[in-house]
Amino acid sequence: MMKEILSIKDSAQEEINNTDNLDAVQNIRIKYLGKKGILTNKIKALSAIAKEERREFGRILNETKDYIENLLIRKEALFKAAELDNVLKTQRIDVTVPGCFTPFGHLHPTTKVLDEIIEIFLSMGFRIEEGPEVELDYYNFEALNFPKDHPARDMQDTFYITDDVVLRTHTSSVQIRIMEKHNPPLKVIAPGKVYRCDADVSHTPMFQQLEGFMVDKSISMSDLKGILEVFAHAVFGPKTPVRFRPSFFPFTEPSAEVDIGCVICSGKGCSVCKNTGWIEILGAGMINPRVFEKVGYDPDLYTGFAFGMGIERITMLKYGIDDIRLFFENDKRFLEQF
Ligand code: PHE
Repeated sequence: MMKEILSIKDSAQEEINNTDNLDAVQNIRIKYLGKKGILTNKIKALSAIAKEERREFGRILNETKDYIENLLIRKEALFKAAELDNVLKTQRIDVTVPGCFTPFGHLHPTTKVLDEIIEIFLSMGFRIEEGPEVELDYYNFEALNFPKDHPARDMQDTFYITDDVVLRTHTSSVQIRIMEKHNPPLKVIAPGKVYRCDADVSHTPMFQQLEGFMVDKSISMSDLKGILEVFAHAVFGPKTPVRFRPSFFPFTEPSAEVDIGCVICSGKGCSVCKNTGWIEILGAGMINPRVFEKVGYDPDLYTGFAFGMGIERITMLKYGIDDIRLFFENDKRFLEQF
């Protein structure tokens, strides 16, 4: 009996030593210590042994069982550690590997400049309004003192939808819509898309404008000059010269075109400013009393100014871009520069 136990112990030990994986260890456990395992059967067989010897063999069998169990546990621990080691080695996060590149878009240059311009006027107390792009002739022309067949309509190459409906050629139409609905005091900017049948290096059939106007008692030309100077200095730099040049718009009287000192040659004269040293940035003027009459304001009580600028034009001047079509071509080499 003793011999048998020793040989069981030896063979178990040898098998355990020779295992090379966790499953094999588990199988050895079943083979020796399982319900019908070799050692378990020996323990079961104890009852058949003479009483005097039973105790001693029982002790030895239990010790052997513990011994084998211990070997199994140690071997298991070895394999588990090796497995963990392997996982740590193969699944390690290498923080030095360059990350995956996720292309990330950004705002279009005209959107950036428009946002910047809006911010400037909001800071001076203007509020934002919008109007429709498909507009009645009445709001785009008639109420702005462009009577039908007036030659001034030629200034704007209009897309007609019907005789009475156009794609708005400027955001000045929003002036009328707002003044019809609200009484002064008003201090409004109206950004939006406008359309003209025109296409070359400085014109596209669709472009963006920002209209601004202010109406109250005793608003004067000096308010207009002050506000536009703040605007020009904020966008083009505080030392930029600004001048008002007489002009004509049917809905303003007097009217002006506002120039800044050429941003390319600083006023010395170049091809961009056509050697004048000045570049036009927007149209403006004091709102014509005829417009006030159309919206039911008393022209003797109220005065106001209005101005309108092209966002693409301001963006081109700010960044020295010489072809407006670049804004619409979606060439990443161009867009990525902003
Ligand atoms: N609406 C004019 C244009 O599109 C600009 C302008 C706006 C002029 C307001 C004077 C006052 O050219």
